[in-house]
Amino acid sequence: MNVYDSARMADVMAPEGYVSTETADDADLVILNTCHIREKAAEKVYSELGRLRDSEEDGTMIAVAGCVAQAEGDEIMRRAPYVDLVVGPQSYHRLPKLVAGAVAERDRSGRSRVIDTDFPAESKFDFMPAAQVSGPSAFLTIQEGCDKFCAFCVVPYTRGAEFSRPVDAVLNEAQQLVSDGVIEITLLGQNVNAYHGDDDGLAGLIRKLSVINGLERIRYTTSHPRDMTPDLIAVHGEVPQLMPYLHLPIQSGSDSILARMNRKHGADDYLKTIDALRAVRPDIALSSDFIVGHPGETDADFDATMALIKNVEYAQAYSFKYSKRPGTPASDMDDQIPEEVKSDRLAALQALLNEQQLAFNKQTIGAAIPVLFERRGKLPNQIAGRSPCMQAVHVTCPTEEAADRYFGKTVPIHITDAFANSLTGTLDDGVAAESTQRESARA
Ligand code: 5AD
Ligand code: SF4
Repeated sequence: MNVYDSARMADVMAPEGYVSTETADDADLVILNTCHIREKAAEKVYSELGRLRDSEEDGTMIAVAGCVAQAEGDEIMRRAPYVDLVVGPQSYHRLPKLVAGAVAERDRSGRSRVIDTDFPAESKFDFMPAAQVSGPSAFLTIQEGCDKFCAFCVVPYTRGAEFSRPVDAVLNEAQQLVSDGVIEITLLGQNVNAYHGDDDGLAGLIRKLSVINGLERIRYTTSHPRDMTPDLIAVHGEVPQLMPYLHLPIQSGSDSILARMNRKHGADDYLKTIDALRAVRPDIALSSDFIVGHPGETDADFDATMALIKNVEYAQAYSFKYSKRPGTPASDMDDQIPEEVKSDRLAALQALLNEQQLAFNKQTIGAAIPVLFERRGKLPNQIAGRSPCMQAVHVTCPTEEAADRYFGKTVPIHITDAFANSLTGTLDDGVAAESTQRESARA
């Protein structure tokens, strides 16, 4: 979401004559887009601000955006008085005006302190220019905010109440992206499967997107288990463009911890959903988020999480130590878990997840997999992309010309090796032959 938001901020500033620079040193305006989800992420902002101040050229404007700005606007101005502008996630459409205001205030009084952390009545989406396309894969925000109030989480406070963009606005933007060359769209939302901009929910939206000519791949993230409706599960078996990968966070495998987390589902509900998904799409790859050391988590609770992971067999996952967030119910619970217990549990959990991820990746060795190439690799003639199951795939092409030609396209790849975080492969025989033929024709 923050990658998408940063790109949209650049889009909003483009008509004002702003262009992105490679380094902060070259910038007239630096915007730090921030995350408040865990303490470590939030604290990074202050160290980054300190670095910026030390290297700041005369006159560089510094803005702080994102969820830390939303949650700690005044605190930022107090701890880092050289910050010119603080802007919350719902006010990005106002950036040009806010920046102009900050510039004017600086000209007048030598410094500026502009803060906008409102939840405006108007939707920013109605005021933002069309997204600039950079490559074959694009994000598209369809939903924001959250009404779930998990006990550990700040999102309902920083991103506000659930909001869905109307289905027509989403379809128009998707059509525009595809006309501009996009072939993969990832629908975004903090609670994306709670989308209600279409009468038939996210399932209805995906069906409508699936008729857009040229849109080869559809994904969505992040989902809540409670909103995996039977209709949405059915879409996974129905719409071939919907990729066989789902990030479905459970957080914990223990029912008593799930209850304390206010997750509103049990481990069994989750497992039933996974079974139903696998029944309609047997090749679906699953991912989750896990929190270890939530207040009250006993050894038995943690064991239940490990057992659930063994049961599901994840293709990949994200895992975190519980982090106390100000203003959330869990931060006031009295049975907080000691740091070293959290560290031990996280290490055990990640060892298991890494093992599963490696095993999942190894299964692909020898197979031919369609890979959408969306980046140039670090090595000469190398291109990098994603498999349908979201695995990173690296391929070295025979020539620079071939690398250029396959960039931005979906190409069958013969997988030759698999690691914990990526696969390598070669152009599948047919394609290799075709490329050699064309090259010799050219020669
Ligand atoms: N501590 C640790 N992890 C958290 N997450 C959200 N809040 C916290 C917290 N207070 C994790 C959850 C969520 C992911 C985006 O971040 O696992 O799914
Ligand atoms: Fe946070 Fe997700 Fe729970 Fe909402 S559903 S409160 S975003 S963890």
